[in-house]
Amino acid sequence: MIYLDNAATSWPKPPEVLKAMTDALERSGGNPGRSGHRLSIEAARLIYQTREDIADFFNSGDPMGVIFTSNATHALNLAIRGLLHPGDRAVTTSIEHNSVMRPLRHLEKNGVELRVVPCAQDGTVDLADMAKTVTPGTKLLISVFASNVVGTIMPIKQIAQIAHRAGALLLVDAAQAAGALPIDMQEMGIDLLAFTGHKALLGSPGSGGLVIRAGVDASQIEPLMRGGTGSQSELEEHPDFLPDRFESGTPNLVGIASLQAGIGWLRQRGMDAVREHEKDLTRQIIEGLSQIPGIKVYGTLDAERCVAIVSFTVEGRTVSEIGMRLDEEYGVLVRVGLHCAPAAHRTIGSFPEGTVRLAPGVFTTKKQIETALGAIARVVTT
Ligand code: ALA
Repeated sequence: MIYLDNAATSWPKPPEVLKAMTDALERSGGNPGRSGHRLSIEAARLIYQTREDIADFFNSGDPMGVIFTSNATHALNLAIRGLLHPGDRAVTTSIEHNSVMRPLRHLEKNGVELRVVPCAQDGTVDLADMAKTVTPGTKLLISVFASNVVGTIMPIKQIAQIAHRAGALLLVDAAQAAGALPIDMQEMGIDLLAFTGHKALLGSPGSGGLVIRAGVDASQIEPLMRGGTGSQSELEEHPDFLPDRFESGTPNLVGIASLQAGIGWLRQRGMDAVREHEKDLTRQIIEGLSQIPGIKVYGTLDAERCVAIVSFTVEGRTVSEIGMRLDEEYGVLVRVGLHCAPAAHRTIGSFPEGTVRLAPGVFTTKKQIETALGAIARVVTT
């Protein structure tokens, strides 16, 4: 089997991640911050250390601004719905995932003004166009870091400057970038970063977070939920301080342990080495696909400008047939269709059919890509 669906979820996970998950239940299985006994304290310690690791990994400057959520969608909803109220203006791009588009379209029906900056067919954005659209008074600019359909990397530092010049906050959807690209929130000017744990960070499904950069006023974000935090239990009102303002209910200890181990694994491997490996594989895929007659490859066609995600279609064939035959006849696992991002497919010109998407990961080898390309060539020509 050759797994090329790491943009949906990474597989396999490093053994260190699996061990951290069982260790968390075996050795730190208490409810963090609730009880005073050793298992509860051990769980709280693990969670706090992971906050520190994440704040450090993204250089956000404040571990207390690391809010654990169940996935990137949850983190994006927390920021978008927590910040935007009727009468506010938000700007986003035309290659966003539905985890951004759907909450925004819902708010638009309820009095939020939404402007969408059209991206080019390769997923790139015209910064002058964006600057014209993000006028003073805009409250929130939301941009994907790297497209989940074509992998295109956005110029986040320049986008942050555009947001800040207009007095807006920048929220970045890093679902495909976290763990794949080095991210420095303070240097890049990212105010809020939504990430998932189960993709390039190599953690388990059900883990993720919203990272609030040091200095960003979190009191302007309304919590999505209120409830038990283990803190200020004498009050019936929810606490205001971070991270409790945005976290209630028993947290996903096992998922958080997996995140810590995933980040530890990436650190040990080195983010530059991870990026170089994925660039090599992406280059190999783009070059290999371009040589197969009848295939159209989408995106920038430049491994330097995208994460390890390549989308293609085949003239005269449906993407579902290609995906099914790759799985059934060759054991090559890919994701086909719209990838929950209809706006992105409209932008690149593949709506409504979608594309076949290849997404290698840290454990994919060049040999596997060679085999997968051979399988694709046979499926396309037979
Ligand atoms: N959003 C994920 C993907 O692109 C699940 O496959």
